[in-house]
Amino acid sequence: MTQDELKKMVGDLAATYVKDGMVVGLGTGSTVKFMVDALGHRVAKEGLKIVGVPTSDRTAAQGRKLGIPIKAVDEVDQIDLTIDGADQIDADFQGIKGGGAAHLFEKIVAINSKRNMWIVDESKMAPKLGSFPLPLEVIPYGSQQLFKRLAAKGLHPAFREQAGQRVLTDSKNYVIDLHLGQIDDAFRLAQYLNQQVGIVEHGLFLNVVNTVIVGYADGPKVLQAPERPNYRDLKA
Ligand code: 5RP
Repeated sequence: MTQDELKKMVGDLAATYVKDGMVVGLGTGSTVKFMVDALGHRVAKEGLKIVGVPTSDRTAAQGRKLGIPIKAVDEVDQIDLTIDGADQIDADFQGIKGGGAAHLFEKIVAINSKRNMWIVDESKMAPKLGSFPLPLEVIPYGSQQLFKRLAAKGLHPAFREQAGQRVLTDSKNYVIDLHLGQIDDAFRLAQYLNQQVGIVEHGLFLNVVNTVIVGYADGPKVLQAPERPNYRDLKA
C-alpha cells in the first residue's frame, strides 16, 4: 500500500466515528484531507448533520466546498470530537504537531474538545519524540533574538522557509523548527518553551489525544490512550 492509501484508510475510518448532531474539530494536513472528504461524502449522501470547526484556512475552504457547515471555535459552545493528523507519536501517546504550520489553531481546537483522535500512517509512530523537528510558532518581532537564545540553549533552531521565503502561519507568524534528534523529557521541554517570550505555541501535544488510528499495510489499528489530566490543566 502507498502512504496515501494508508492515509485514506485511516481518514475513511475516522469519519465513521462522527455522529449526527456533533460539533467536529477538523484538523489540518494530508491525512485529515481524506477524512474531510469522507465527511463531506456522508453529509451529501446520508444527510449527516454536523458543524465543523476548522484548524486552518485550508481545511475551512475544503469543508465549505464539500458543503460541511463551518463555524469558528468561538462560535460554538463545545467541540465533541476533534480529528487531526500528527507528525510523530511516541509510545506514551505524546505527540509532535505543526509540520503543516497549523499547530497553534490545532492546539486551541484540541484543548476545547471533549475527545481528540489522531489519524496517522505507521511511519509516524516512534518510541520517542524528536526525530521529527519540533515546530514553534513565533511572533516575527524579536524572533532573531529568540532564535539566538534557542541556539545558545543547544536546541538547534531553524526558521522554516519555502521557496526562499519564511513560512507564515494563518496568524502571520513565523515557524522555527527545533532539530533535536531525541526529546528525553517532553514535559520539561514544554515547560521551558511555555516560558519563552515570543513563542506563541510549540508543537508538543502532551496528554491531549484519546484515540489514535494507525494505518498499517494489513489494516488500521485503533489505540486508546490512558485517561489522564487534560493539557489545559497541566498548563495551569
Ligand atoms: C499540521 C499538522 C498535521 O496534522 C501534521 O503535520 C500531519 O500532517 P500530514 O497528515 O500531512 O502528515 O500538525 O500543522
